[in-house]
Amino acid sequence: MGRRALAGFVMLLLCAGCEPDAVVHKVGWFSTMRHQRNIKPYARPIAPVEGTVPVTGGELPVSRATADRLANPRTRTAESLNRGQWVYATFCLVCHGENGRGDGPVALAGGGPFPGVPSLVDPARPALSDGAIYALVVDAQRMGRGLMPRYGDKIHGTDRWDVVNYVRSLQLNARGGTGPR
Ligand code: HEC
Repeated sequence: MGRRALAGFVMLLLCAGCEPDAVVHKVGWFSTMRHQRNIKPYARPIAPVEGTVPVTGGELPVSRATADRLANPRTRTAESLNRGQWVYATFCLVCHGENGRGDGPVALAGGGPFPGVPSLVDPARPALSDGAIYALVVDAQRMGRGLMPRYGDKIHGTDRWDVVNYVRSLQLNARGGTGPR
């Protein structure tokens, strides 16, 4: 170890107060137990082997080709709509707005970091099937909608269909229809 390195090391020791353990491993010259083949605290966990299926069951990725064929298993009951409203308020309202008009705070702020947030209740836009809305919630990117983030890792299970039902009820309301809500 050169003189400068030694001086640097001493400085490090001084800086670390009386805790040499926190410093020694930073100098490659010492062999410490920290340098071994193990997973360090907070290290990125090892990725699962390809094809691994979680014990809770696997999930096929959504795709534009298959989205329309997905059947909505959740009836539009008050319970489903209440839950959907909560999911919508938590994840969607910031961009799409309370009534789905594309006027949420994030979309409006100075042109927004997310300009181009569409209205979900504009009858002039092409109608989307329940499955397509579901697939947009799960992974908009895979649906070819690069501007919307994916929510499949945040919204799970029946919550996804409940929010689809809630979007439908927003559309009914916008048309002045008499939906369940
Ligand atoms: C960060 C802002 C943002 C959030 C949050 C967001 N979206 Fe979007 N959404 C967008 C943008 C932007 C688009 C247009 C995507 C594109 O065309 O690339 C879009 C498109 C859509 C569309 C397609 C509308 C159409 O007529 O083409 C649906 C349906 C939709 N979002 C539903 C939702 C739902 C449901 C949620 C909550 C789970 C949600 N979005 C959360 C920004 C957002």
